[in-house]
Amino acid sequence: MKSEIIQPIKALSGGLELPGDKSISHRYAMLAVLANGSSELRNFAAARDCYSTLGCLKSLGAGVKIEGSTVQIAGHGLRGLKSSWRTLDAENSGTTIRLLSGILSGQSFVTKITGDGSLQKRPMKRVMTPLHEMGADIRGRDGNFPPLEIHGSKLRGIHYQMPMASAQVKSAVLLAGLYAEGETSVTEPAATRDHTELALLEFDAPVRKSGRTISIQGLAAGSDGHPALRPISADIPGDLSSAFFFIAAASLLPESNLYIGNVGLNPTRAAILDFVKQMGAAVSIVNLQTRQGELVGDLSIKGATLKGGVISGDLVALLIDELPMLAALGPYTEQGIEIRDATELRVKESDRIAALAENLKRMGAAVEERPDGLWVSPSRLHGAEIDPRGDHRIAMAFAVAGLAASGETRILDAGCAGVSYPRFFEELRRLAE
Ligand code: S3P
Repeated sequence: MKSEIIQPIKALSGGLELPGDKSISHRYAMLAVLANGSSELRNFAAARDCYSTLGCLKSLGAGVKIEGSTVQIAGHGLRGLKSSWRTLDAENSGTTIRLLSGILSGQSFVTKITGDGSLQKRPMKRVMTPLHEMGADIRGRDGNFPPLEIHGSKLRGIHYQMPMASAQVKSAVLLAGLYAEGETSVTEPAATRDHTELALLEFDAPVRKSGRTISIQGLAAGSDGHPALRPISADIPGDLSSAFFFIAAASLLPESNLYIGNVGLNPTRAAILDFVKQMGAAVSIVNLQTRQGELVGDLSIKGATLKGGVISGDLVALLIDELPMLAALGPYTEQGIEIRDATELRVKESDRIAALAENLKRMGAAVEERPDGLWVSPSRLHGAEIDPRGDHRIAMAFAVAGLAASGETRILDAGCAGVSYPRFFEELRRLAE
């Protein structure tokens, strides 16, 4: 597989626009298929993961038309999906398989869904447990792993107290809630990204939030005679998690001056900006506005001296996808980076704690790997060969770390970045000085 060579550079400068947010794109696509009528989704994520969602939806009979970054979806209502003769392939995407599990639980047919080698190792019991409680019949390998066989069933509303802070679990339950009789509610132990709640509101679903509890009224069971979901016409904001690799790179290189337009700044995602600002990063937000309930703005980033910091407790869920990049910044900070309470990182696209520790050590960093996180001390890095273990965020995090290391860094199997950001290396080269 193709590797990418990263040479040290002095600065990252210029302007950048990002492909649409991955989490929002998944959700809009799934809800658009269930709406009555045609939705237009502009700036749809270029991410391979979101194309996995579109592929699965097409297999379920959805009309999907793609023109550049605009996706048109013909929705045929909550009961409009058709059974698929083939096994759906979620490829590398946890969001695809977990959110679709919620929707597929409420259908009147059986669906098989699986994914690539990485996805087949990721735990599904976390969604199977609440969905079983709602009356779903889902069978998985060893009761936990894909392939999943989902026998559509009659669902009933439940109240689910989530044992872990996971937006995917919350979303699977709420989406199944559309098909359940009565009300379904979930209480989360800590705030997670709320794109599902916001998207449901845009599609006119009866969803409510009270503190950490989100409730939805079932529609398909005809419990309250609520009309169907309405289609939307939406501009999807740029993906802040993808932007963060560039924010980190620009912060790291003192002479940088970078402008990123149209970035999603939903407060359940933007905690990363507060965190890096506390670390000393020079990031400012301009042109703030709201679109489809989502905050959007432009970011201006200059090079800075980074202090370092500790990520633990409730902050972990809010920064979950930014932790690889933060850890890889650790050596370049004055006090290092410590990550605690983050065992979730071990069940992502790779065991991210192990992948970070191994690759940071290859670059000469002083790292302590712990069961629930890492301690990365300030140290000088040198170029090395990086094995991202097929994980897009590990590949991109080390490409950024390589920009300020001495000598050349080689990212093996760099194409895995396409899972979230196919043009990542191209854009990095364009902005490098
Ligand atoms: C996501 C939720 C998070 C995140 C993932 C996308 C989503 O996963 O890591 O990249 O779109 O709901 P968890 O729900 O497992 O924390």
